[in-house]
Amino acid sequence: MFTIKNHLEVRNHHLTLGNVDTTELAEKFGTPLFVTNESRIVENFLAYRNAFPDADIYYAAKANGSLAVMRILAREGAGADVFSYGELYMALLAGIPHDKILFNGNSKTDFELEKAVETGVRVSVDSKDELHTLSAIADDIGKTVNIAFRVNPDVSAKTHPKISTGLRTSKFGIPAEEVTAIYREALQLPGINPTGIHCHIGSQILDTAPFIEAAEKIMDLVEELTRLGVNLEFVDVGSGLGIPYEKGKPAPTPHDLADVVLPVFNDRISGIGISPKLILEPGRYIMGDTTILLARVNSVKHAARTFVGVDAGFNLLVRPTMYDSYHHALLANKADLPAEKTYTIVGPICETGDILAHDRVLPHVERGDLVALLDAGAYGFSMSSQYNGRPRCAEILVKDGKYDIIRDAEDVNDLIGKQKIPARLL
Ligand code: LLP
Repeated sequence: MFTIKNHLEVRNHHLTLGNVDTTELAEKFGTPLFVTNESRIVENFLAYRNAFPDADIYYAAKANGSLAVMRILAREGAGADVFSYGELYMALLAGIPHDKILFNGNSKTDFELEKAVETGVRVSVDSKDELHTLSAIADDIGKTVNIAFRVNPDVSAKTHPKISTGLRTSKFGIPAEEVTAIYREALQLPGINPTGIHCHIGSQILDTAPFIEAAEKIMDLVEELTRLGVNLEFVDVGSGLGIPYEKGKPAPTPHDLADVVLPVFNDRISGIGISPKLILEPGRYIMGDTTILLARVNSVKHAARTFVGVDAGFNLLVRPTMYDSYHHALLANKADLPAEKTYTIVGPICETGDILAHDRVLPHVERGDLVALLDAGAYGFSMSSQYNGRPRCAEILVKDGKYDIIRDAEDVNDLIGKQKIPARLL
């Protein structure tokens, strides 16, 4: 037995997760298949917890919204960052308490704001329009809603442009220089209690410098707002900590993040004389490396490249296509055989961009082999689609040699379930 990476081990040439042979799972449940290791979720959560012992950790439900995952995190004491009514509904159902949920989003509907007020969660308000709508809704319902404003700190996260969220030009948040005025306005509005401040600068960030810059800018605002008379109970500095998808591209750990963020936070709040709660919203770090996507090889084709056609594509893992992301690939049934040839692993989707892994050196690949794409736990299933008429696959949760199905595979009925053919076409 040897360890590939973190919790991934090889026994008898087979990749195992949580002491379960992944080739047996593929036989039993079919492919494609997401397999998640429960123990790794807890380890990752505890790494955050230990790095930030006094903070609240709000898991970003968008990374992986499976109920079992959120249930595990609820049990560990996580709160949640939700970005839609759907995520709110699922987080509550999984047992995350309403007073540990922040409803984020740059374009919330009236219905979503109503649900936020009814369920008593906090709201991160993203625009003046939203502030006034929320005030009217809360006033109508006869409740007061605790809010933060999402600040756009104009910080470059030095990550992929599509996941940089704190640049001046991004759609998120209120420009830092307009923040004081909007809090002043909020203090006067019925149904609104401004109790926090929020920012998030991007995702898959591999350098701690942008976090320091954002923390300093936020704490400048905290000072200004306190002077204005806002009683800040929480400061949510978002998340964005990257993970090491690729060898040679290391990522900072939660401890590295704490080493740079906590001194800024603690010094500044003691200088101001307040004691708000620090909130962090990690998604990728908690879930990314907990999960693999298993895909069966349908064909090996020798053309301009040697293409390995598998049964999962960007319908199930869109990150390589959408952000040119790297996901390490290996053969789950030949995990420790010597690598001998370069292959490009492609999905079954009718698009040239449906490439899961470019030019990877692998052991000899043949039809029937099982490819494992690693680090597929964050923004994997949660970004999946039914494109090309492909029902989504199942999800399995493993722990200490045992496994459970946590989501059944869809079938063709799930493709047509909500559709209707008008009578005139029958
Ligand atoms: N909080 C807010 C307000 C966010 O917008 C996000 C992610 C998070 C927390 C969690 O960030 P994390 O810890 O996961 O970096 N689909 C992309 C990532 C999009 C992230 C969007 N916001 C990907 O697959 O790389």
